[in-house]
Amino acid sequence: MQTLADPLRTAVETAREAGALLRRLGTGPLDAREKGARGDLVTAADRASERLIVERLQAAFPGSAILGEEDGERAGDTGERWIVDPLDGTTNYLHGYPLYCVSIAYERDGDVLAGAIYAPALDATFAGARGRGATCDGKPIAVSQPEAVADAMVCTGFKPADYDRNGEHFAHLSRVAQAVRRDGSAALDLAFVANGTFDAFWEFDLKIWDVAAGALIVREAGGTVSAIDGSVYAPGAGSILATNGRVHTEMCAELAIASGAARLRAEILGS
Ligand code: IPD
Ligand code: CA
Ligand code: CA
Repeated sequence: MQTLADPLRTAVETAREAGALLRRLGTGPLDAREKGARGDLVTAADRASERLIVERLQAAFPGSAILGEEDGERAGDTGERWIVDPLDGTTNYLHGYPLYCVSIAYERDGDVLAGAIYAPALDATFAGARGRGATCDGKPIAVSQPEAVADAMVCTGFKPADYDRNGEHFAHLSRVAQAVRRDGSAALDLAFVANGTFDAFWEFDLKIWDVAAGALIVREAGGTVSAIDGSVYAPGAGSILATNGRVHTEMCAELAIASGAARLRAEILGS
């Protein structure tokens, strides 16, 4: 069995190097464009970061496949695949809001086994490998203690075009949780569940590169990851709920109440 030390080190070093590049590029003009839906932005920095990451991964793991958000899938022949978000939180980055990051996951034979998330403005590196726990800046991290949603700080995310899907859930959790945050970087939101800052995070329609590293790091920190109805989470599937484990069932229940309200509203309004 090949060790996970090498892929983990490669993920961490590459994420940190790409993050340093983002930090430098963030001081210049960024040339942001919408890729598709309103609010789905890409800048020259996203592309430069992905180019650097691909170069480093190809040099360190020749023959591995790479799935990058900006340039899509590059095939490989080793059973290994890297899943890369070269800049998660592009809108934050563009506005100088410090919550953005680089996310790199290592997959072997379809299983995510290692991952790293680097937040350049915080200079914080989150990492994890299957069965080896999770760390921030090399120190072990663990999920939080709260056992009730009423005591929980929870986080969510959505793009402008996706708000309707999540609006009812956002409103309902704002009533029942201690606090709701919407921070604009799904990978970092997951890292903040892993280190106990957030007690729960949910979102709809994320892509595999948003969550591959973060979901592993949450699990390795002792947390629970599923779809919002509690069913098994499949990467790239309709929804994700990541929690400290203790509030998981209650979060599923509160999100189900919101889903019910959303369905009822749609029925009444006939939309
Ligand atoms: C986005 C961020 C945001 C989430 C969006 C993602 P991007 O990724 O993670 O928090 O709400 O759904 O697409 O476009 O900044 O890499
Ligand atoms: Ca992303
Ligand atoms: Ca991105």
